[in-house]
Parts: sequence; structure tokens; C-alpha cells
Amino acid sequence: MSAAPEEVDDSPYCCCSAATFQEILARQRANPLPFMELLMVHAGCGGGCGSCIDELEAYLRDHDAHIED
Ligand code: FES
Repeated sequence: MSAAPEEVDDSPYCCCSAATFQEILARQRANPLPFMELLMVHAGCGGGCGSCIDELEAYLRDHDAHIED
């Protein structure tokens, strides 16, 4: 048996949000928002460099947490 924790957060890290995608996903699940609003409220991408927005959008889609604007 492995002693690894059940949930390892190996998702990408968004420097502008100071959060991993998994943390942003958790915020989105607690308070679902359309994507553009999510970028301003749950993540710092809206006022940040924007370099991970496409990747974050794909991540949320993969986890059924993406809401169209
Ligand atoms: S690193 Fe995510 S928006 Fe800049």
C-alpha cells in the first residue's frame, strides 16, 4: 500500500492568483461563476499576466466546472 495522500494537488500554479488550479476549482465549486467573472473573483488572472487563462479554462472544462459567459 502506498502512503500517498488521496488528493495530491499537482495542478498548475497560477502566480497571479497565488493559487493552484485545484484551489481555484474549489472556489468555483463553492460559488460557481461565469468564466470571465471567475477570472476576477476566484482567480487573479483578470488583473494578472493572463498567460494561464487558456489552460485554466481547459482545466475547468475537464472538471465540469466551466460556465459560459
Ligand atoms: S499566471 Fe495565471 S494569469 Fe498569470
